[in-house]
Amino acid sequence: MAGLLYISYQGMNLPIHFHTPEALQDWEQFTFRPDDIIVVTYPKSGTNWMLEIVPLVLSGGDPSLVNSVATWDRSPTVGCVQNPTKDMENLPTPRIFTTHYLYNVLPKSFYQVKPKVIYVMRNPKDVLISAYYYYESVDYHANPGPLKEFWHKFLEGEVPYCSWFDHMKGWLNMEDKSHILYVAYEEMIQDLPQVVRRIAEFLEKPLEKEQIDRIADRCLFKNMKNNKLPSTFDHSKFFRKGIAGDWKNHLSEEDAQYFDSVYKEKMKDIDFKFIWG
Ligand code: A3P
Repeated sequence: MAGLLYISYQGMNLPIHFHTPEALQDWEQFTFRPDDIIVVTYPKSGTNWMLEIVPLVLSGGDPSLVNSVATWDRSPTVGCVQNPTKDMENLPTPRIFTTHYLYNVLPKSFYQVKPKVIYVMRNPKDVLISAYYYYESVDYHANPGPLKEFWHKFLEGEVPYCSWFDHMKGWLNMEDKSHILYVAYEEMIQDLPQVVRRIAEFLEKPLEKEQIDRIADRCLFKNMKNNKLPSTFDHSKFFRKGIAGDWKNHLSEEDAQYFDSVYKEKMKDIDFKFIWG
């Protein structure tokens, strides 16, 4: 890992461009509220997709907020320099946050207050490919080097943030699952209206079929990719291909078999039926 680009924090390697020591410290004392909503993901699992869906569910499909306020302003990132905690009191209720943190390193109040969590997960082979292209395209991440080396680093957890396996295991093993909803990227690809309905139920926001369909349509990849959002940040990099299974275009059968054998070993104690098998 290129030292200057990352800060080592509680078992994670965070991009210092977003996570300065001061910002990380500022967030350690942050107080969550019971009605807060936190979208949690391992990077490249569909964070921005979910951060579009959740406010639309809360607004009953009214796009005014998502059309006028950039994602990172309306759904602050935990520990991020752009989101000082002093500004958080003024956010509309319920507040929406996002994080790539491991389960055990959130501010203490998270574990006491138990706000609602939506955890988005994705086939790790697609996460790997998405991460590879993303890290290659931005200057606040180290260049991932050749893919044939990067995917081994991914399996070993020698990548930005943390090991995919540690992230998944922490959030899947959370003791109190009454305030977490697990959603797979692949389910969103297969049947987005059904996922929007589940999110609405979890957030206790009843929606009509017409509202659900409108939200799902707006959140299709082609529609989100073409959205012109108010932002100084290059939003387009978060919308690359938007499919499930792109790994097949990058990993040989032999590579995939090796990946699967490591996956099987590392996930052997996890009792969860993943959509990717
Ligand atoms: P790809 O690089 O495989 O295309 P994140 O927001 O966590 O950084 O995740 C980015 C990934 O989610 C990218 O994957 C991006 O294309 C995909 N994505 C974003 N919006 C999407 C949508 N509406 N439908 C499908 N995929 C989407």
